[in-house]
Amino acid sequence: MKGLVAYLSQVAPVSEAMMEFVKTSFHPETLEKGSFCIREGEYAQDIAFMEEGIVRAFYNDESGRDYNKNFFQGPAIIGSCVAPISKEKTGCLTGIYHCCGRQPFLSDFCRFPLPNPIEPDTTQREHAMTSASELDLLSKPLTLPCGAVLKNRMVKSPMSDSLGDGAGNPTQEQARLYERWAKGGAALSVIGEVQVDSRFPERPGNLVLGPGLNRTMFQHLAQRGTSNGNHLWAQLGHAGALSHAPISQPKGPSALDLEELKCNGMSVAEVENLPDRFAKTASIAKSVGFTGVQIHAGHGFLLSQFLSPLFNLREDEYGGSITSRCRIVLEIINRVRAAVGPSFPIAIRINSMDQLEGGMTETDALEVVSHLDTTSTDLIDISGGTYFPGMKPIRNYRAGEPYFEEFARAAKKKTSIPLMVTGGFKRRAQALQALESNGVDVIGLARAMVLAPDLPHVWLSEHGQDVEFPRFESAPPGGITAWYTMRLTAIGQDREDETMLDLPTANRLYEERDAERCKCWKTRFGG
Ligand SMILES: Cc1cc2nc3c(=O)[nH]c(=O)nc-3n(C[C@H](O)[C@H](O)[C@H](O)COP(=O)(O)O)c2cc1C
Repeated sequence: MKGLVAYLSQVAPVSEAMMEFVKTSFHPETLEKGSFCIREGEYAQDIAFMEEGIVRAFYNDESGRDYNKNFFQGPAIIGSCVAPISKEKTGCLTGIYHCCGRQPFLSDFCRFPLPNPIEPDTTQREHAMTSASELDLLSKPLTLPCGAVLKNRMVKSPMSDSLGDGAGNPTQEQARLYERWAKGGAALSVIGEVQVDSRFPERPGNLVLGPGLNRTMFQHLAQRGTSNGNHLWAQLGHAGALSHAPISQPKGPSALDLEELKCNGMSVAEVENLPDRFAKTASIAKSVGFTGVQIHAGHGFLLSQFLSPLFNLREDEYGGSITSRCRIVLEIINRVRAAVGPSFPIAIRINSMDQLEGGMTETDALEVVSHLDTTSTDLIDISGGTYFPGMKPIRNYRAGEPYFEEFARAAKKKTSIPLMVTGGFKRRAQALQALESNGVDVIGLARAMVLAPDLPHVWLSEHGQDVEFPRFESAPPGGITAWYTMRLTAIGQDREDETMLDLPTANRLYEERDAERCKCWKTRFGG
């Protein structure tokens, strides 16, 4: 008991009232393993969890709220409390809050299942201390070639959040989502699929940085999304052959006429116009407050289609060898750089391979990396996979492991540009290992950041816990993406703890919402 109180005092200054409460109500025999999320109000979010017999409540004070300050004063982690967790968990946690006269809203879901023993285990503590020094790998800032600094090594990977207003402009929920990620400690958030051409969007919830945009809303989004010394970049997208058919007439590098994939091919003039389009969009992104851009050349969208022999059947200077297929990508980077100046970050996302028979191979992708090395790119984000009907899948990673680490190590030999790797990171140990291996400079996290928007803070704490990923029994095509996307909406509404949708419902709501948005899109952009 004494030890625990001493330990607590080291973690954060504890008020007298709290000490009294701890002394009178600590009964180790009633402790139970588990974790609990307490929420109150719009911004306040505490995470309380028990480890080694200690219930610790973390509160990120950076949101500006200080409702816990009667208990604890400290910087990022201001709360750390001890209390018995009995079967009546609510009563216990309410007890804690009664100390400062508050009634919490308690959502009793287990976010971090903790295998720790109830009694403090010194071996484990030693291990934790070792990992604390390893944490430098995660917390170390990274200076990009353009001079911009990422404050740590954890990046919220681009996700199409489907939180635009249906007419290409941001919403309050979207601004709140990026604020949550900022407060959660990510060094950088990349907004997925910000369109350079309203005629070729990925979905109708995309943002469009083009003429007639709502500048005020974009500035608001950028301001809230960068509110914690972090970066917010726009992923510049063009869906090409895979643009959303209800609001588009898809057009890719080459015309295709397959049962499940039909599109027109781009003329040379249209291809030659792309660098200007990306450059103009990047300039607008900079002018409204985004702190960088990522060019999307992955996952089977337009620039990935140019790189892929499945989509790119051109016989002119933009098709054929990988050098020619890569030409448009390099032209775009150079034009974007000229538009945004030398100190603005430009990243690119590429596939490590298409993961389809007949698609872009790892050898091709390594050549792309060599070409990128000759440009002023600041960060190469490695991902993988594309869609093309009828092609046999090939997987270039082992199940249960981060997907593209091995490719990153090969890529590292081809370039001095920092590498980000996204895909399959579920545990902090995996992230640390990847950073240690010298192949990876930055860890990209997508689903994990949807499940726990404050994951970077958690992983930077000594005992950082991992996220439990949901398992879905069976899912219709796109169903899992829909589930994660609807959870993004819930996060933007600060309601993710109340709103746990099943997969079919999430899928239905996602499709219905987009069908509605298509009407809005057409009203603004025509088509
Ligand atoms: C809901 C959702 C939306 C996504 N949207 C995009 C996107 O707009 N652009 C992109 O490049 N990748 C997108 N991705 C892919 C992720 O960036 C990431 O590559 C993938 O989820 C694997 O990483 P993870 O294992 O950390 O989730 C999306 C993923 C999810 C789950």
